[in-house]
Formats: sequence, structure tokens, C-alpha cells
Amino acid sequence: MKPGSLNEEALSVLSDLRLYLHQRYGVPLGVAPSPPLAFPLVFPPLPREGERVGVRGSTTPPASEIPASARTLEEVRRILGDCRRCGLCAGRTNIVFGDGPDAAGLMIVGEAPGAEEDAQGKPFVGRSGQLLSRMLKALGLEREQVYITNVVKCRPPENRNPKVDEVSACSPFLTEQARLVRPKVLLALGTFAAQTLLQTNEPIMKLRGKPYTYAGLPLIVTLHPAACLYNPGNKKYVWEDIKGIPEMLKMDPA
Ligand code: URA
Repeated sequence: MKPGSLNEEALSVLSDLRLYLHQRYGVPLGVAPSPPLAFPLVFPPLPREGERVGVRGSTTPPASEIPASARTLEEVRRILGDCRRCGLCAGRTNIVFGDGPDAAGLMIVGEAPGAEEDAQGKPFVGRSGQLLSRMLKALGLEREQVYITNVVKCRPPENRNPKVDEVSACSPFLTEQARLVRPKVLLALGTFAAQTLLQTNEPIMKLRGKPYTYAGLPLIVTLHPAACLYNPGNKKYVWEDIKGIPEMLKMDPA
């Protein structure tokens, strides 16, 4: 073993642990861990085609305002309006609804907007977004070809994980987005998005590498680009998970 390599390994393990605690329990990066939050994923069942979608306890109109047959992403955005369905509205600058073509082959779902996304009103425009664009390029895709959104559309304070009620309030909109974009592949980035779409508490390293479906659409889950920024060694897992996407995009829709 080279001198110093143990230190490097220990640092890498610590960095992984810090990231895990951050993504899983919302422990701020660089701050000593506090006891984990219980995070039962209470998630409304996915609506079927034509079914009405409502938001419990909302103070703004539910997603059922417009019949499913008449919906476009633009209409869903209009229904979302100046959303006050959960407490995240208090701290946001912009709602980050989603970005990309209405009928993209690939739809990406992240966790929640960060500071840069909140400021610009667009998903994945910060450092993670830059890495995401490079990952897409490596697949032969431009960002503009891909529909990108998040589980929740408003930035949580201090970039903490979204809470159950926040996910519940926003989830009908994500389901509508997936149903309208109807991508050939959905890609969930990171622990939070993967656990939310799959309604599980399994860690991302257990979830990745297997095919799933969400709303009847093929779903792949992988690590968040932030995990690759903290630990570039994670890039190999992401590449393993996403390298089959171009082939999937060539397939006829089911
Ligand atoms: N991280 C996310 O999960 N989503 C964004 O939009 C930006 C960073």
C-alpha cells in the first residue's frame, strides 16, 4: 500500500457516509450527524389513465381541474399555478416545474431544486446540472432533447430532503408529467428520487442496476450527479446504469 493511500480511502469512505446521511436523512453536509428522521414514504397510489388526481388538504385547485383527455404540460403547469399546497412555497423564489420537450424519449427526475435552480426557475442548472449535461453528451444526447424535472418543484430550505407532506402535495404533478411526456425511459437520479418513485426505503446502491416501472413506463435508477461530484469514483456506477439508455430509446413504445 502506498503511503497516504489509507488516508485517501478513509476520506473517500467518510465522504460517501456524509453524502449518504445528507441524501437519506437530510443531515447538512459538513455538520455533525443528528439522529435520523423517520421518513415513511406515504405516497398516493398512481392514478390510472383518465382517473382524477386530487391533492389532499390543498389550498389551491387540485390537478383534477382539467379532464385528463384535455391535458398538456402547459395546462398542468397552469393548474400548479402559484402553488401554496405545502410549506415550501414560503421560501422559494421560483417554482421549478420542468424543462424540455413535451414528448421526450428520456425523462429525468431529480430530488428538488437547489439554490441555482430556485433562482433561475429551471432544473439542474447548477454544478450537478453541468455534470448531468456531460453524462447526457456521453450517451449521445443533448440536454435539450431530454425532459428534466424533480420530485418536488420548490427548493427545500437549506437543501434538506423534502418531507412527506411536500412530496404528497407535489406527486400528482410528477405523475401527470410522466404520463404526458410518455418517455421511453424514466431515469431517477439519487436516493430520494429513486425511493420516492419506487416507494421504498432501500438504499440507492441496492436499488440501482435493476429495471423497474413507474406509471407503466420503464424506470432506471442511479446515483445523483452530486454523488459523483463528492466522489468521482461513483461515476462508474452511474455509467453502468445509464449506458443502455440509447438502445432503449431506439425501441418502439410499448
Ligand atoms: N439536484 C436535484 O435533484 N435537482 C435539481 O434540479 C438540482 C440539483
